[in-house]
Amino acid sequence: MSLKGKYALITGSSRGIGRAIALKLAECGAKIGVHYYKNIDAANDTLAKVRERRSDGFIVQADVNRTDDIRGMMDHVKSEFGKLDIFVSNARPEIPEFYKPPMEIRVEQWQQAINSQATAFLLGAQLAAPLMGRGGRIIAITHSPGARSGSWQPWVGMGSAKAAMESLVRYFAVALARRGITVNSLSPGVIFGAANLVDGGVLVGLPPEVQQAIKSWHEIGWCPSRRTGTPQDVANATMLICMEESSWMTGQIFYVDGGAECNDAHLHGGIELDDRPDLLRGWRRFDYGHRIPVGNTGSRMNTRRACAGRPRN
Ligand SMILES: NC(=O)c1ccc[n+]([C@@H]2O[C@H](COP(=O)([O-])OP(=O)(O)OC[C@H]3O[C@@H](n4cnc5c(N)ncnc54)[C@H](OP(=O)(O)O)[C@@H]3O)[C@@H](O)[C@H]2O)c1
Repeated sequence: MSLKGKYALITGSSRGIGRAIALKLAECGAKIGVHYYKNIDAANDTLAKVRERRSDGFIVQADVNRTDDIRGMMDHVKSEFGKLDIFVSNARPEIPEFYKPPMEIRVEQWQQAINSQATAFLLGAQLAAPLMGRGGRIIAITHSPGARSGSWQPWVGMGSAKAAMESLVRYFAVALARRGITVNSLSPGVIFGAANLVDGGVLVGLPPEVQQAIKSWHEIGWCPSRRTGTPQDVANATMLICMEESSWMTGQIFYVDGGAECNDAHLHGGIELDDRPDLLRGWRRFDYGHRIPVGNTGSRMNTRRACAGRPRN
């Protein structure tokens, strides 16, 4: 499978998941527009790694909260590539910009979340589509709870913004289907890359004990694959959507989460440990290493992957 002759722009590809996507698409032969916000060194490093994979591209700066910047970024793409085949909307502001629970979040923080995700995707897709011919791919990187459930409380701004993005995906999929352009969303579960803030994704910035609690939560059974994901898992899924063979898949949300989305929020995942039928009879004997939230009220609204064994409310 090859992406030779294709041109891709990935927002937020200086670091984390965006960088892994850029490198995977470069490996498949696509030329890459590496977008960054502040971290020019990381962007240049991504571009150097793109070139190590025998591809090429350029770097471009933009604040995805600013519509003028998004227009400038797309003008830059047009002048460098003359066209575009793949647009991945992946950038997300730093957590302190929006991380507040529902009763405390300020309007400006809410707007950071909504503008950087929903508005940036709206305008990005509007400007990317005219640069694309048949076979174009527009992909939104969302977040697995997204529109289906809630997440932890201070994620209200970002969770709502991702839900709006997933809704936009469906509208654009219909709008662009006759032109042979597909529009999809990839919704990653919990992602940990290498233990540094350039390659690792946002969660490697959490305190080590919180990272370990999240990993254990997955390993005991809350993620059927018994592990957290990597930026490469998301990059591989992006690559598959970009292939010509995926041309009839549009308007979808693909969960890249090792099956975690399929779990039942009402039951503790550790019950399935060891696949032992006798486990249910004697389950009280087992120490799952986590307190189970008392009562079931609102469990569908909770995220199941990040509560790390403690009730969140
Ligand atoms: N990590 C996870 O577990 C996870 C799970 C589900 C979904 N996701 C989604 O995956 C995407 C990438 O996450 P990540 O963890 O890889 O992020 P990350 O490592 O924190 O990287 C964030 C990227 O966004 C850019 N950025 C930050 N603020 C920006 C702004 N105002 N305007 C434009 N670009 C900006 C950064 O550029 P600079 O380098 O220049 O600062 C960087 O390239 C996000 O949409 C996130 O919601 C992540």
